[in-house]
Amino acid sequence: MKLGTALTPSATKALLLGSGELGKELVISLQRFGVEVIAVDRYENAPAHAVAHRSYVIDMTDSDAIKTLIAKEKPHFVIPEIEALATNALVEIEAQGDCVIVPNARAIQLTMNREGIRSLAAETLSLPTSRYAFAESFEELKAAIENGIGYPCFVKPTMSSSGKGQSMVKSADKLQSAWDYAKSSGRVDTGKVIVEGKIDFDFEITLLTVRALNANGEIETHFCEPIGHIQENGDYRESWQPQKMTMEAIKNSQKIAKKITDAIGGLGLFGVELFICGDEVWFSEVSPRPHDTGMVTLLTQTQTEFDLHARAILGLPVNAALKNVGASAVILSPIDGQALRYQGLEKALSVPNTDIRLFGKPEAFVNRRMGVALAIADSVEVARENAVKAANLVLMEA
Ligand SMILES: Nc1ncnc2c1ncn2[C@@H]1O[C@H](COP(=O)(O)OP(=O)(O)O)[C@@H](O)[C@H]1O
Ligand SMILES: [Mg+2]
Repeated sequence: MKLGTALTPSATKALLLGSGELGKELVISLQRFGVEVIAVDRYENAPAHAVAHRSYVIDMTDSDAIKTLIAKEKPHFVIPEIEALATNALVEIEAQGDCVIVPNARAIQLTMNREGIRSLAAETLSLPTSRYAFAESFEELKAAIENGIGYPCFVKPTMSSSGKGQSMVKSADKLQSAWDYAKSSGRVDTGKVIVEGKIDFDFEITLLTVRALNANGEIETHFCEPIGHIQENGDYRESWQPQKMTMEAIKNSQKIAKKITDAIGGLGLFGVELFICGDEVWFSEVSPRPHDTGMVTLLTQTQTEFDLHARAILGLPVNAALKNVGASAVILSPIDGQALRYQGLEKALSVPNTDIRLFGKPEAFVNRRMGVALAIADSVEVARENAVKAANLVLMEA
């Protein structure tokens, strides 16, 4: 693997589609190898714009806009950071063979739509998942639940993320409002929803899984220690690493993660979301990129999830080992507003062994993630307590 010098004709160039807080850390990891980074988002001054060599604002759901920019910039790597992309443009660009779509265009297509990834996992690979069905009308949805999925269940738009349009339905009388919500709040109205039986798990994890080249140029799969997390309304609030689980559950989790990432292929880091009950493991979904719950690795691993992704993309060897026990807690805006002011950082950072990242988003709205608090400690319990304490000490005003 040869790497060039940024901003010269020899540059190794990476273009990020999506420039949020995860993209920002990825840009930093790539910059450490001297990569020239171009950050793209739908709005100005997105977090990763602040640290990239160049930035652009385009409509990333517009196929022509993506193709024009990539023809102009000629990156070696195109790295999708979000799901809401014109994925057909990525398929075309990949076919031309001038750059690598990370991890590959099919992965981006499969994972942007719950139908694609669920069918691959459950039908092609026979991985254990919740019972599920797709429905194109309220009647179909109702019939699917009555014919086997049952209550409680989750109704989700097939194209959505961060819990948008998603609800848990406990009884038939709440189904209409769940259907209306899913239909109105998806990223794109595919006309379809997925309904899933509720899994009664003990806890849920993200198993960060890396496909990277070893010294012989062969692809090897590496697993980070499991990350436990808490979700509220489909969005993450706290995560910690390692999540304690049985040896059998770890083995089952790694087996599932290996199968799904082998089927997706390419090089990079994946966030495999799994539900755990005792030794039993269910596949939920997978991101072909760093995962928000993995921000905890900013303190817990020598190579963070962003370092691992950067190295894997560049064809470099990785080390997924845990360094510290730790936790993360999100810092959510309590208000709608612009140009927020943050206070209390001196208090937050006085909590032992903590750190704070503020993402620098120009606009806030209620419950938008504006930062994250991180903590390490001797135990997950203390790390979680301190991360939450630090997060709560950060105050915001417009
Ligand atoms: N079938 C299910 N059983 C139990 N919990 C679920 C199920 N589906 C979703 N959840 C809960 O909702 C969260 C978000 O769902 P997910 O499918 O991951 O949506 P998103 O793509 O928005 O992250 C999960 O992390 C889990 O806590
Ligand atoms: Mg999820």
